[in-house]
Amino acid sequence: MATQTQELTAPLTDEQKLAQVREFIAEVMTHEHPDSYLIAVLHRTQELYGYLPTEVMDEIAQEMGIPTAHIWGVATFYHYFNLAPPGKHVISVCLGTACYVRGAAQILQTIKDELKIDVGDVTEDGLFSLQPARCLGACGLAPVVMIDDKIHGELTPKKVTQLINQYRKQANK
Ligand code: FES
Repeated sequence: MATQTQELTAPLTDEQKLAQVREFIAEVMTHEHPDSYLIAVLHRTQELYGYLPTEVMDEIAQEMGIPTAHIWGVATFYHYFNLAPPGKHVISVCLGTACYVRGAAQILQTIKDELKIDVGDVTEDGLFSLQPARCLGACGLAPVVMIDDKIHGELTPKKVTQLINQYRKQANK
């Protein structure tokens, strides 16, 4: 009988992540205008690290021959990029049309008030970070919030507060 093996993928170490960033840059540098790929490089970095660490931005500057100040300028211009490590739980609030018309703005405000942070920030205890999202593909459940990879729908300000408290309780166990 054939044996099935399941390969478990361990999280990448920082060295492996950096190696992947370098590999990506090396590929980009073969193109005619490599600096036009800067945003793609930053995206790849954020995918790997969850944010843009300063030392990796310095590395990108060196490898691509772009001034660090310019890279910082690009990274801070786009709200998509995080300059600090994300919280333990990432809350993405859908601001797509279906969610918006069903009260997403109120849900977002409730979360901001409850966590005492703004979009793009991390709570003081490092438990949550907050980010906006486009349509999360669950419009039938609008308004929708995704916490990590879990969708929570048909939310009201009261329900979203309860949800946050559930995560807080789990963290204190
Ligand atoms: S608009 Fe929010 S899930 Fe589609």
